Amino acid sequence: MTGAGQPIGVIGTGYVGLVTAAGFASLGIDVWCVDIDAAKVEQLERGGVPIYEPGLAELIAANRERLHFSTTLDDAVAHARLLFVCVGTPPTHAGDADLSAVHAVADAVPASSEHALVMKSTVPCGTGRTLRRVLGEQGKGELAYVSCPEFLKEGSAIADFMHPDRVVVGDDGGPAGDAVAALYEPLGAPIVRTDVASAEMIKLAANAFLATKISFINEIANVCEETGADVLAVARGVGLDARIGPKFLHAGVGYGGSCFTKDVSALKLLAANSGYHFQLLGSVIEVNELQKRRVVAKLQRHLGQLAGRRVAVLGLAFKPNTDDMRGASSLVLISRLEAEGALVRSYDPVAEEEARKVMPGLDCAGSALEVLAGADAAVLVTEWPEFLALDWHDVAAAMAGRTIIDGRNALDPQAVRAAGLVYEGIGRS
Ligand SMILES: NC(=O)c1ccc[n+]([C@@H]2O[C@H](COP(=O)([O-])OP(=O)(O)OC[C@H]3O[C@@H](n4cnc5c(N)ncnc54)[C@H](O)[C@@H]3O)[C@@H](O)[C@H]2O)c1
Repeated sequence: MTGAGQPIGVIGTGYVGLVTAAGFASLGIDVWCVDIDAAKVEQLERGGVPIYEPGLAELIAANRERLHFSTTLDDAVAHARLLFVCVGTPPTHAGDADLSAVHAVADAVPASSEHALVMKSTVPCGTGRTLRRVLGEQGKGELAYVSCPEFLKEGSAIADFMHPDRVVVGDDGGPAGDAVAALYEPLGAPIVRTDVASAEMIKLAANAFLATKISFINEIANVCEETGADVLAVARGVGLDARIGPKFLHAGVGYGGSCFTKDVSALKLLAANSGYHFQLLGSVIEVNELQKRRVVAKLQRHLGQLAGRRVAVLGLAFKPNTDDMRGASSLVLISRLEAEGALVRSYDPVAEEEARKVMPGLDCAGSALEVLAGADAAVLVTEWPEFLALDWHDVAAAMAGRTIIDGRNALDPQAVRAAGLVYEGIGRS
């Protein structure tokens, strides 16, 4: 089994699958994509792109002749040896990772000594061992298995694919791991070769550490509010320490997204299921949940009772440059505000359609100034560039009230205040 230049299969054409497929196609590789969602496959075949990710539509269009889409595995199995598994692993009701899609793929692949399943989906440590046992019981023990977890970030996924910090390849010997490493070699990133269980754990540990960093700075921000310190200065001073680094030290309304929320919970429960109580992660999760709700108390301090007050929510997506609403802090915040009787209106330049799937009754405006018109207060939840470029005099003229809560510490407080508005950030003096 070689790697470089050989066609590959990609099973699951969501954020990870499509970026992986388009990325490898742009390196000159034929990619055979599979998804059980017939509407998605049809849209892709017509040249459409079902998700919002900057640069993805252009990359797919530029490499269209090397990208093939199907609802069945047949073509991928016929043309490719390495089958990249990129299906979703959402949380179960218990908070563990739901591996039913991963198992459905394992059930569907044929017995073959020429193929390898390359797991890009984020799975609990031990999944590779379980899957190989299951495959063995199904008479498919010769199918190779490689763990190759994905680290891309939505919003900058193409750049992350092209310039990864590292590529992790976990296997237990045999040519499949070498083939995966060879495939990634042109990207020039360090390749961490290890066993399957360690590769699985690297992914979970990386996300858990980043989430911990965010919850840490959020708690520092909350203490700053009590003590008169400014978390921006604190984060800068702390982050310049090379042992710590400046990234993921941005205080705000909590982390969201599909990955951090579910992966931190999945690691905590994986530990618990293995007999270990992962205390630290319990706090990381709790701090994050409370952080999403802190804006409610801030608004109450400014407005008093929220019943009947108009609150404008600027941004719905869990971060800018994506339409992904999974785990978005806006969902918790809006629910809490509505529970207090506030009249909530939102605007997001991209994520409204996705948001309506989760919150069908959402009241949305068509522009930032429209959502701000008549509002008693506004909360910045997603730091889309267009919100940072708002003319605050126009905002002040449109709003009925004065309060601006900057849930991402992304606005210029002086510019907001110069327009006669009242600015409050997170952890800012
Ligand atoms: N989204 C991210 O930023 C990101 C980053 C790193 C890792 N991951 C991990 O990658 C995996 C995929 O995440 P995503 O965000 O791309 O998910 P997604 O929900 O966007 O896409 C999953 C796709 O898999 C398809 N699918 C489900 N079952 C299938 C099957 N049996 N056969 C073929 N296709 C099937 C779905 O229809 C869907 O299109 C998850 O495990 C996630 O944790 C995601």
